[in-house]
Amino acid sequence: MSFKDKHVLNPRIQGMRCIKCGAGYPVGDYFYGCPSCMEQGENSAVTIIYEGCGSIDTTKKGWARYESMLPYKDAVTLGEGNTPVLSMPRLAEDVGVTAIYTKNEFQNPTGSHKDRMNPFIVARASAMGYDTVTCASSGNEAASLAAYAAAEGIKCVNVSTDSIPGLWKQASDMCGAKLVTVPTSAHRLKYQRENMGDKWYPATNLLEVPTSSSAWGIQGYKTISYELYDEFRKDLPDLLFIPTCRGDLLYGIYEGFEDLFQYGYIEKLPKLVACEPLPRLEKILEGEATHKDVFPGSSALTSSIGGGTATWQSVTALKETGGFAVSVPDSEAVDDVSEMGRYGLYLETSSAIVYGCLKKASREGRVHKEDRVLLVLTSNGYKNVIL
Ligand SMILES: Cc1ncc(COP(=O)(O)O)c(C=O)c1O
Ligand SMILES: [Zn+2]
Repeated sequence: MSFKDKHVLNPRIQGMRCIKCGAGYPVGDYFYGCPSCMEQGENSAVTIIYEGCGSIDTTKKGWARYESMLPYKDAVTLGEGNTPVLSMPRLAEDVGVTAIYTKNEFQNPTGSHKDRMNPFIVARASAMGYDTVTCASSGNEAASLAAYAAAEGIKCVNVSTDSIPGLWKQASDMCGAKLVTVPTSAHRLKYQRENMGDKWYPATNLLEVPTSSSAWGIQGYKTISYELYDEFRKDLPDLLFIPTCRGDLLYGIYEGFEDLFQYGYIEKLPKLVACEPLPRLEKILEGEATHKDVFPGSSALTSSIGGGTATWQSVTALKETGGFAVSVPDSEAVDDVSEMGRYGLYLETSSAIVYGCLKKASREGRVHKEDRVLLVLTSNGYKNVIL
């Protein structure tokens, strides 16, 4: 079987579209985002256009239910997705809202939500004849991509900084990936651009002013929204709190709900709330900065969602759902780990931050007593190195 026969593209997919300027493009891989926006220094992601109407096939189980809305139906699986939704009445009472639910993404095979993105990235890479996938990652994406590349039977080159914690390094090594470490985050992108040639498929963003990870991978995050619909039907929570860095997760969840809205399943989208360790999106939404700026501040204790950049895709997801951004310092996220631990949920700092952000939003009157809130818990606490 040749690579090209291995994965068959969803026939509904007929083109791509820039999420900022709306320019249409043929189906492809736009590793630098929208060419037209890039030329104007506006750096924006492209997304995939599906023709006609998608639906949830209720005769099937798992992600097969959603295959009309996903790029490849035969992507490799390690048992990702279908994560539990918990109701946390004691937590809701303590915070002072009607209900709090969690979506336990840390129960994915490599312990983070990234496992929803990588099946489609390795499928796309294989289908297009690449023999290697590569990512720039501080940890979770490297571990997940290594696992899915191994499952797919292709090579993986993870590029990280010298400070990558040993536990992620080992996960990458044990799944057979090559790990390259460089001094800074900027060096990671340079290394990839200089070495990828036409054999390596980049899973993650390649630009200093970032656009997004692979548009094909982001499609995988739509499954969170579909699964939440299957759980709650039209009675979805009012707000979703989501740990955010480049906003792949945030944007994918938005597109999933947008599909459900377009296809008549829901009448309104839940508000998405970006949780960050320093005010990046917060400043952009306040009109004090743009998605092209570099934001000062420390985020070392929440390295998985750290760094000084934001993306247009995050801004889009927040504006289109009527949501907002909240930031709490990374040092407070460390306290959030033990606070969430008291409810039995042991999380990575970058994931526990949703709790601090919820409390802050509630104090500031942006979350109300009658609200039902869902926390997307992206990663487990066994990855915390120094607390
Ligand atoms: C634990 C954790 N939560 C959230 C995120 C947010 O990801 P995104 O870049 O999609 O905003 C990441 C990304 O690396 C992560 O590792
Ligand atoms: Zn554009």
